[in-house]
Amino acid sequence: MSRQAELDQAAHERRDQLVSALIDWVRIPSISGVPAHAADVRRSAQHLRDRACEAGMTRAEVWETAGHPAVFAERIEDPQLPTVLVYGHHDVQPVDPLAEWHSPPFEPAVSGGELQGRGAADDKQHLLMHLEAVATLLQVEGRLPINLKLIAEGEEESGSPNFEALVRAHREELAADVVVISDTGMLGPEEPALTIGLRGLAYWEVRVLGPAADLHSGVFGGAVANPVAALCRLLAGLHDPQGRVAVPGFYDAVRPVSPGERAAMAAIPFDLAGFQAAAGVPALTGEAGWTPYERRSVRPTLDPCGIWGGYQGAGPKTIIPARAGAKLSCRLVPDQDPATITRLVREHLLRAAEPGVVVEVDDLQHGAWVLTDPDHPAVREAALAVAEVWGRSPALIREGGSIPPVATLAAELQAPCVLFGVILPDDRIHAPNERLVLEQLFRGVRATTRIWHRYGALGRAGLSAPAAPPAPGPPR
Ligand code: BES
Ligand code: ZN
Repeated sequence: MSRQAELDQAAHERRDQLVSALIDWVRIPSISGVPAHAADVRRSAQHLRDRACEAGMTRAEVWETAGHPAVFAERIEDPQLPTVLVYGHHDVQPVDPLAEWHSPPFEPAVSGGELQGRGAADDKQHLLMHLEAVATLLQVEGRLPINLKLIAEGEEESGSPNFEALVRAHREELAADVVVISDTGMLGPEEPALTIGLRGLAYWEVRVLGPAADLHSGVFGGAVANPVAALCRLLAGLHDPQGRVAVPGFYDAVRPVSPGERAAMAAIPFDLAGFQAAAGVPALTGEAGWTPYERRSVRPTLDPCGIWGGYQGAGPKTIIPARAGAKLSCRLVPDQDPATITRLVREHLLRAAEPGVVVEVDDLQHGAWVLTDPDHPAVREAALAVAEVWGRSPALIREGGSIPPVATLAAELQAPCVLFGVILPDDRIHAPNERLVLEQLFRGVRATTRIWHRYGALGRAGLSAPAAPPAPGPPR
């Protein structure tokens, strides 16, 4: 049997063990955004540290931050070998609306080749995929073909407020020739992909303040401004009829997309019907002149994520509400700068405030966009490994989501980044009934052992010969 066949066989025999390890971990509700779950996030970190030890990592530690703890693990085989740093996150999104889950989010259920539970796909499967590849390689070969480090953040789903400080404090320990980010996905079970771009993010809360307290709508209505109506007009004015963002200057820094790039994107086997079905919408819409794939990857957006104001209880209550509010976010593309966009959006909202109300804007979150070098040997070798397992070459895709730590790692460690993950478009991440497809995870383990062998064979010199310097994000 060839070495790789032996590894695949060993991974196959360990599958039940992997699934039960995943179930045990998904049971821990590590919701970083809900303060009441802080102890659970810590328990999740300790759990992961223990699993890393069991898998054969020689050092595994919980690293404290000003917020939720991270986990670091490593296994250094030989300083001459390439060193790879794997990034993932062990925190998960909140679960609401809870009533829409078919089974409780933290009582993972396996059926039909799927494992359901909050955080199963995003992102716990990827961290266990990496530990599983380590355990398999050690079982069969007794050593890793590379030096491996792993950093698992505990605050990614909350915007990574302490990640930059963490990386700066541990820059030497995190140093690597290549960073592999495992928190992204593929186009479909038989349409593998590697991600070469992510959008950035800026997020705000906007409040519209009217009267000092709710007023009788008969006594005052008609003579005072209504904050709910004013907020609705404000939000309605954020886009023009073509679906373009109407904030002056919003597109100024957007890097033009060349006809060649558009042709390449048109050739990507993006499953439009599947995308629409996953969204559950009667039609896809968006900015005129761009395809749905382009609208969600190379074009920036501005979206209300939530809105509140006025009376929401049963029956009528005749009031002019005192205030109204909304959460607003932008997805940003090269070369938009989150701080500049924040200034432009704030100025626009304050300028558009109607007489009789006061508009306030709070800055909640910023994250940088990412473009990796698709010609870098680390990307090319990962693509070959994925092709071996999935039976076809991965598409190189630009994702609509954001992973702000990627730009931080690229900048602080000065290392190329490879984005390899196995999430599927219909895994319902961040939504009720999140699930993962076990076959994706199993294939992910087989691909990971191959990637490490390829990196080991290439050696440090071969891995540090980029065709072009990586462009990790906007200047910081
Ligand atoms: N794993 C996702 C990002 C993602 C999802 C990439 C699907 C590719 C495909 C990540 O956990 C995430 O949700 N990121 C947040 C970042 C935010 C909280 C700053 C996002 O994109 O909303
Ligand atoms: Zn997420």
